[in-house]
Amino acid sequence: MSTLWIGTSWKMNKTLAEARAWAQGLRDHLGDAAPAGVQPFVIPSFTATTAVAGVLGTDSPVLLGVQNAHWEDAGAWTGEVSVPQAKDAGAQIVEIGHSERREHFGETVETTRRKVAAALRHGLTPLLCIGESLEVKDASGSAEFILEQASGALTGLTAQELARVVIAYEPIWAIGEKGRPATVSELVEPFAALGDVYGGAVTGLLYGGSVNLDNAADLLDIEHVTGLFVGRTAWQLKGYLELLRIAEAHAAR
Ligand code: 13P
Repeated sequence: MSTLWIGTSWKMNKTLAEARAWAQGLRDHLGDAAPAGVQPFVIPSFTATTAVAGVLGTDSPVLLGVQNAHWEDAGAWTGEVSVPQAKDAGAQIVEIGHSERREHFGETVETTRRKVAAALRHGLTPLLCIGESLEVKDASGSAEFILEQASGALTGLTAQELARVVIAYEPIWAIGEKGRPATVSELVEPFAALGDVYGGAVTGLLYGGSVNLDNAADLLDIEHVTGLFVGRTAWQLKGYLELLRIAEAHAAR
């Protein structure tokens, strides 16, 4: 059984004080060990990266990430942050290609490919997000669409490099306030398609989009799902701790 990756992106939320309080609470709860069979991770805003790294400490079982990073190591790219800078700030994961970045900030398959390569080059874990719109889903094109997003970003990688990648499938129609939770039956086919190509070849195949305390266990039951990538439910520490508990129980079965 694969380790279950259970993590949250805070998106554009939390002050430094809120970030520190969440991280301190998690540290107090976990101590120096992750729940058995579970890999926790947290992806704050850039501004909170070093603060969260400091609170968690260097011996933390919790992996820390950033929500984006540029493909170049340095240069005239106003407003951007590079992978070496993210690493310097304490990050171990680089989130790449979230649908909000594809929709609002011009992220393309080509930029996700470059960013995956940059993360791997510097020894960080690329967390590649893929997901289709409702239009694509309604036209029964989900599996084909997400496989194209994934293969476009992961093209040319060696098996060893691919083995360091985490993929998060996050259907756009299921994300955020405007989304609706996906049903298990809607997710079986996309995960079967992803599992066919990437199962066992990558570090993890995560599901994200309106994960909550009621659906988390059922989502983890879906074949090929090896983790959850969570927004709103995990922004309160209590919710995140409950998700870790659900995952630990799942891993113990
Ligand atoms: P929600 O869990 O709030 O739907 O957000 C999911 C997500 O986009 C995580 O990256």
